[in-house]
Amino acid sequence: MRSYREFHQQSIDDPEGFWRREAARIHWQTPFSEVLDRSNPPFARWFVGGRTNLCHNAVDRHLATRAQQDALVYVSSETGIERRYTYESLHAEVNRMAAVMRTLGVARGDRVLIYLPMIPEALFAMLACARLGAVHSVVFGGFAAPSLAARIDDARPALIVAADAGARGGRVIDYTPLIDEALARARHAPAQVLLIDRQLAPERLGAPYLVDYEPLREQHFDARVPCEWLESNEPSYILYTSGTTGKPKGVQRDVGGYAVALAASMEYIYEGHAGDVMFTASDVGWVVGHSYIVYAPLLAGMTTVMYEGTPVRPDGGIWWRLVEQYRINLMFTAPTAIRVLKKQDPALLRAADLSSLRTLFLAGEPLDAPTAAWIGEALGKPVVDNYWQTETGWPMLAIQRGIEALPQKLGSPGVPVYGYDLRLIDEHSGEPCASGQKGVIALGYPLPPGCMSTVWGDDARFVDTYWRSVPGQQWYSTFDWGVQDEDGYVTILGRTDDVINVAGHRLGTREIEEALSGHAAVAEVAVVGVEDALKGQAALAFVVPRDADAAADADAAAQLEAALLATVDRQLGAIARPARVYFVALLPKTRSGKLLRRAIAALAQGQEPGDLPTIEDPAALQQIRDAVDARV
Ligand code: PRX
Repeated sequence: MRSYREFHQQSIDDPEGFWRREAARIHWQTPFSEVLDRSNPPFARWFVGGRTNLCHNAVDRHLATRAQQDALVYVSSETGIERRYTYESLHAEVNRMAAVMRTLGVARGDRVLIYLPMIPEALFAMLACARLGAVHSVVFGGFAAPSLAARIDDARPALIVAADAGARGGRVIDYTPLIDEALARARHAPAQVLLIDRQLAPERLGAPYLVDYEPLREQHFDARVPCEWLESNEPSYILYTSGTTGKPKGVQRDVGGYAVALAASMEYIYEGHAGDVMFTASDVGWVVGHSYIVYAPLLAGMTTVMYEGTPVRPDGGIWWRLVEQYRINLMFTAPTAIRVLKKQDPALLRAADLSSLRTLFLAGEPLDAPTAAWIGEALGKPVVDNYWQTETGWPMLAIQRGIEALPQKLGSPGVPVYGYDLRLIDEHSGEPCASGQKGVIALGYPLPPGCMSTVWGDDARFVDTYWRSVPGQQWYSTFDWGVQDEDGYVTILGRTDDVINVAGHRLGTREIEEALSGHAAVAEVAVVGVEDALKGQAALAFVVPRDADAAADADAAAQLEAALLATVDRQLGAIARPARVYFVALLPKTRSGKLLRRAIAALAQGQEPGDLPTIEDPAALQQIRDAVDARV
């Protein structure tokens, strides 16, 4: 048995030696000449000069040994479709998709925006991009047209791959009107949209830029498209995520470092091995989907289970039946899903044969102790919390059972993962925190392989956003508060910025505020996150109407609230919709005009906001209290 402590120390003392060994997990068409280029901090370039390809490593490389093994099991409880793809048939589908993209003019370095629901074609399209050396940017299907347009303008894709519709909870969400509107809004409009027609949406109009995938797939049925060998540091993908400002950042990742990091994580953190079956219940539009639905399980020669639907339809036993039916070994989801399942009849869980399941992994939001205890007991299997971000691409904190099965401590995702020089620091001085003292979770330079290489098209934003929190010192800020105990276990205490986490979805309160202030009736708005028993957090909006009468009585207020929520749906998507809108005459602000969001959040939860010496008008605090009390 390895010792975690030694293993972690080695990775920090000698990152070159450590990651040189790990790099042997993937195929390099040309070996790298240098493990790590530190010449331009805070940028780090891993495996310099090495040439490789993510699609080759995820698909082609397995053909010799596991062509007939399932690579992808697809289940949709929305459409009732179940399909299995062996590595051989996955290879064929990816080649078809790559050939079609090539015909439509996609070449190495081009961006391809993927706006697809959870259908196999999403995975084919991502891998086809990787094959061609094109940079994919998957946009979560729940995002509305203006969000899509902003991403189109930032990524400037050569092609968009979309579907006619998504489906959730039995409801069909028509995508083509969203695409029409996004293209009309975007300054940069790609010439074509490749459309996967699921025939779910009502008869759509034949917009001239829509190209049907099916006939092209038929035409390229036997196509073989060679893998482009990319230098390890070329971009593999862009994934947009929310931060402090209203403008999402394009997190850019490399090729070689990402492949190595994911392959290593599969052994050391997830204990997944070739031939195992992994079910990650997330969405390809999020980072957990990129890393643990698509790339990591396939890099490791495993079977990945892709699921479209909710955990409670047709009933709350659906996931457990999937475990039984497909002999799933590893499961990965967010704590919110478990809280939802906890409300279901426990007999549904007991009815399934869960003997194949070894471990349940949870990430994306804090795992509360009662949920952890309930699911651990119900399954009788280890439950492993892991903490990370879109930016890192793979866990920063976890019990790394593939190294040493340290004991779990309820409420903590565990200890720093190898490769990460993770510290708790004082937010102002950068001084290390004593154990038990709250600080910012920071990472020392260099970030390990697999982490973001920059902000797409904006190196300065990468440096300014993440590396300048302590002036004169080189720390990557995670924007999370934490506290570490004497044994090295870290507990997450919430974000230091204006990001909130609703049902494991990362949302920028500034983005929601911008969407709301676009409505003519809104003079001012503040959006804050408050605790929610089911979703972890919920967003609340406090709005000062332009016309005080607009929300004067209950009916008018309800009407305006509905209109404002619809605005968020249209601007950002329903996932960003606040749980409630409260109307006030005044918002608590500092004398320099900064919103006191933390004070608002405290008041909204019935807590006192503490001393606020810089507040402009203390009467604003009472406004928040009254608004919340009036509607409890
Ligand atoms: O605040 C932390 C929280 O989610 C943020 C990152 O969200 P996202 O970029 O969507 O990536 C999710 C990848 C799993 C973090 O800054 N977070 C993530 N995991 C945990 C967590 N908070 C507590 N416990 C976790 N395990």
